[in-house]
Amino acid sequence: MEEAVKQHILALREELHQHNYRYYVLSAPIISDHEFDLKMNELQKMEEANPDLYDANSPTQRVGSDINNTFNQMQHRYPMLSLANTYSEGEIRDFYERVKRGLNENFDVVCELKYDGTSISLLYENGALSRAVTRGDGIQGDDVTENIRTIRTIPLKLVGDDFPASFEVRGEILMPWHVFDALNKEREKQEEPLFANPRNATSGTIKLQNSSIVATRKLDAYFYYLMGENLPTDNHFDNLQKLKYWGFKVSEAVKKCATLEEIAAYINYWDTERKNLPVATDGIVLKVNSLHQQRNLGFTAKSPRWAIAYKYQAERAVTTLRSVSYQVGRTGTVTPVANLDPVLLSGTTVKRASLHNADIIEELDLHIDDKVFVEKGGEIIPKIVGVDLDARAAGQGEKVMFVRECPECGAQLLRIEGEAAHYCPNETECPPQLKGRIEHFVSRRAMNIDGLGSETIDLLYRIGMLKDIADLYDLRWEELAKLERLGERSAKNLLAEIEKSKQTPFERLLFGLGIRFVGETVAKKIARNMKNLELIQQATEDDLLQIDEVGVRIAQSLIAYFEKEQNRMLIERLKAAGLQLSLGQESLSGQTDRLQGKTFVISGTFTRHSRDEYKTLIEQHGGKNSGSVSKKTDYLLAGENMGPAKLEKAQSLEIKIISEDDLLEMIGNDLR
Ligand code: IVH
Repeated sequence: MEEAVKQHILALREELHQHNYRYYVLSAPIISDHEFDLKMNELQKMEEANPDLYDANSPTQRVGSDINNTFNQMQHRYPMLSLANTYSEGEIRDFYERVKRGLNENFDVVCELKYDGTSISLLYENGALSRAVTRGDGIQGDDVTENIRTIRTIPLKLVGDDFPASFEVRGEILMPWHVFDALNKEREKQEEPLFANPRNATSGTIKLQNSSIVATRKLDAYFYYLMGENLPTDNHFDNLQKLKYWGFKVSEAVKKCATLEEIAAYINYWDTERKNLPVATDGIVLKVNSLHQQRNLGFTAKSPRWAIAYKYQAERAVTTLRSVSYQVGRTGTVTPVANLDPVLLSGTTVKRASLHNADIIEELDLHIDDKVFVEKGGEIIPKIVGVDLDARAAGQGEKVMFVRECPECGAQLLRIEGEAAHYCPNETECPPQLKGRIEHFVSRRAMNIDGLGSETIDLLYRIGMLKDIADLYDLRWEELAKLERLGERSAKNLLAEIEKSKQTPFERLLFGLGIRFVGETVAKKIARNMKNLELIQQATEDDLLQIDEVGVRIAQSLIAYFEKEQNRMLIERLKAAGLQLSLGQESLSGQTDRLQGKTFVISGTFTRHSRDEYKTLIEQHGGKNSGSVSKKTDYLLAGENMGPAKLEKAQSLEIKIISEDDLLEMIGNDLR
């Protein structure tokens, strides 16, 4: 009976992998969405009833999990190199001639699109996805396997049986334009910062700690290079066809070319045609087809001699600079913005462009009324890339000088040594800083107070009802209900939301305070470590530096924050209002500091808990996880089938090797 159940689960997984591939990769489903959902539900139920048959590569795992991901550093088996870039067809000709001279025999060149996303390296073992690592510095990157599993176009199990037992495949993770647009629209609604382009949105997404959010972001992936021993063929083009057959998404635009003319025709064709694609591309890549010839050509220190990237020129327009205005952000940073005569660029009208900082303005030697070149290189916010100096008449227009005083409050601006940005130091009175801090405090990831958008905050600020976050808890129904913008119902809802926020866990409140450099993850670490606000206030720089991920910059920022009388008073008021200024029972339960200061490397598979659960347990008890064994490692948590290289290294460094039972004993878990 049990065997029959197992076989049924395996068959269902196999079938769902196939349907998934047909739907997402081939866009040619053979069953309805409803039938698909029914089968998925059936599998889910059966897996729940048979937890011993768990498989990280089951189709049910595409939805991700809420367990906090930590990204271990992993060394690449083969370094991830970049490509030499060119912008002219002349340089393509030079490349072609160099290869010809180097080989002194006939050769083919494979032309491909250059996808503009985040590169990834996937390791497959025995036909199953075993690891996904980001490029990092090319030598080692972050292990983002849990997040990558949620991408539907990436096969978790391969089709066929002619793949090498172990191989790596390189490709690009991408966020399709329509997903990017919808995500930014949603972020705008939630008053969250927008992503500048799909590339940034993609890299932000694959570094998210919660893989179930990654699953909702609908990422896509194209694959363009196969690496390993015993590859199926000795040429790149046929290997790509194999990849496609095994279930990977390979671009339809790949073309084998035998002459320079064919290459030029390919470049020209895709210059316009690429704009109709669902994902961003920024050029084309040329690769010598034969792997034997690739080996003969070899590498320079940075990139292969057998490949080159041709980048398309970003679209450019010329217009007139009318003025420069300055925006002040929540932390006081001042950003210059160019106001331009409207001009059409890549299908949209551009009126404003980012100028980034004072150095860039100086470098461009900008004058009012200058004719400026605007580019949109994959960014939604266009930038000024140059000035047409010939078009500037003698004595025309005033030179643009970065403001010295805050445009909002008049305070003298400061510039931190070594940093490009200017900022306004008047944090106690400068309106956009005050309002910005309140906006941050109520935002979804912090206190999550719904119904208090930036316009309402602006109104309450102007009439003097809201100057700081503690004022939120003094708002009265009688006063709010009188406001035309709110009315009785919204006022009531808002007050209920504010009341509810008093129960928000301490770590989110700490993040909500908006202390410079204290982001969501750091706030969580500090809260878990220090347990309450009072201890954080009393902590010395040294105490703070003991916390994982807290460096000098963060420690000093925390100390500076709590040294200010005004901040201390604010916290007193939050305390009086009944907010959670210490870790709740929920977060405290199961936490100890038994593993404080110890670094663990986990390897192999386990029976009592999953690897992720062990990672979480180690952190809950004050320990640290790391991806590779080094002198700094204290323990190697060894499971079944662990990598022999890790074991050998641990033994040679005399690192203590422990079993899962040893670990559970160390943290005081009852094994029975
Ligand atoms: S081949 C050694 N092919 O461009 C070969 N790269 O600077 C390595 N990219 O990091 C890469 N499309 O992220 C290759 N069709 C393509 C590509 C491509 C995009 C990216 C990749 C790489 C960068 C090269």
